[in-house]
Amino acid sequence: MKDLAPLLEFLSIPSVSTDPARKEDVRRAALWLAERLKALGFRAELHETPLHPILYAERLVDEKAPTVLVYGHYDVQPPDPLELWESPPFSPVVREGRIYARGASDDKGQLFAHVLAAEEAPVNLKFLVEGEEEIGSPHLPPFVRANREKLRADAVLISDGAMFAPHTPTLTYGLRGLCYLEVRLRGARRDLHSGAFGGVAPNPIQALGWLLARLKDERTGRVLIPGFYERVRPVPEEEKALWPALDEEALKRELGVEVLPGEEGYAPLERLWARPTLDPNGIWGGYQGEGSKTVIPAEAGMKLSMRLVPDQDPEEVAERAEAHLKAVCPPGYALEVRRLHGGRPVLTDPFSPPMRLMARALEEVWGRPPVYAREGGTIPVVAELQEALGAPIVLLGLGLPDDNLHAPNEKLDLVNLEKGVAALRRFHRLLAEEGLSPGPASSP
Ligand code: BES
Ligand code: MN
Ligand code: MN
Repeated sequence: MKDLAPLLEFLSIPSVSTDPARKEDVRRAALWLAERLKALGFRAELHETPLHPILYAERLVDEKAPTVLVYGHYDVQPPDPLELWESPPFSPVVREGRIYARGASDDKGQLFAHVLAAEEAPVNLKFLVEGEEEIGSPHLPPFVRANREKLRADAVLISDGAMFAPHTPTLTYGLRGLCYLEVRLRGARRDLHSGAFGGVAPNPIQALGWLLARLKDERTGRVLIPGFYERVRPVPEEEKALWPALDEEALKRELGVEVLPGEEGYAPLERLWARPTLDPNGIWGGYQGEGSKTVIPAEAGMKLSMRLVPDQDPEEVAERAEAHLKAVCPPGYALEVRRLHGGRPVLTDPFSPPMRLMARALEEVWGRPPVYAREGGTIPVVAELQEALGAPIVLLGLGLPDDNLHAPNEKLDLVNLEKGVAALRRFHRLLAEEGLSPGPASSP
């Protein structure tokens, strides 16, 4: 790659959106990107929100040329646990053909591919870049709805995901949604000596265990919330026929496990892409320090993530989950459920005109056609973009499943960055030359 210095500079800004102490750094990342785009001839504006600014930039070359909207996020996840990084998270380095830094893959590095590809693009380009994706995009949907005209485009391009496997160009046409809850249980008014009160005291940790046991069936892996699966769309056989094969043995080896547990009756790939899940993501209560302390805690809690698929709705799922938790909560405990964030699931047309154009661009660059995949992760604003703008969406993941997103030693393989930039340049050129008139009616 010819000049990585600007990307390394971008990655060195600790734009951790969830950390109040990093607020100025988050802003600095937005301003840095705005300057970069201005240097490429873009008009750039920061839109303030109650938290982190939204960057909008455009470069309109010809009113008759097609318009592409790029979405990405300049915020990153917290870097901890710091001691597990081989080099500091905000001191980007290149080792063995990979950039290591927080945000290298999610999403600054992938977003930067679009900035590099913008240099001489013969199409109208718009960038919509937010600093709140990692906290659930609270302020972006209203901005999108209020600025439909400004954001209007013939295609929306997003690189904020992964390729199916190394050397496997991938077009993604589905994302799962998310419903994230925090559950707290209170028993007695204060912590109690487990000898002096054990036998009469409520124990919220125990009650949390009972609750958890009633959320998912141990034998079938099915979620037990009534109506949870009601709106789940089954996957047509023709769609499954399109899916690449998942190497289950390789996945087990990578995860260091002997089985891939999940919902009975569905293959792992379907469970990852097209079935909803429920997983406790954190659990606390009582004494966690060295040695023992005999105590019955007054409070315990957990964080629950539910990954959703079409046509589940995060609000409705949250209501159903809350009602179920209330119904099965044993007497003697105060239950509190907080909705932390959510995002709707997305399905796009894998063979929309811009997807076909991107498939051609990818094939030219990689020497092989792309595979078509869904993803298990969530990008909250995509459903909003789809609905508010009505433009076809192209999800082109440039990362890899082992990029360590949200974990120590996050990285991006340079070959994927380079080929990503090449494919995007090719896409822009094809789009300018041929437009988006739908090609032959059948799939590629
Ligand atoms: N880029 C990810 C989403 C993603 C991950 C897509 C892996 C495809 C494959 C995004 O930045 C992310 O982490 N999203 C959160 C959403 C949440 C914070 C609302 C997620 O999926 O947990
Ligand atoms: Mn991301
Ligand atoms: Mn992320």
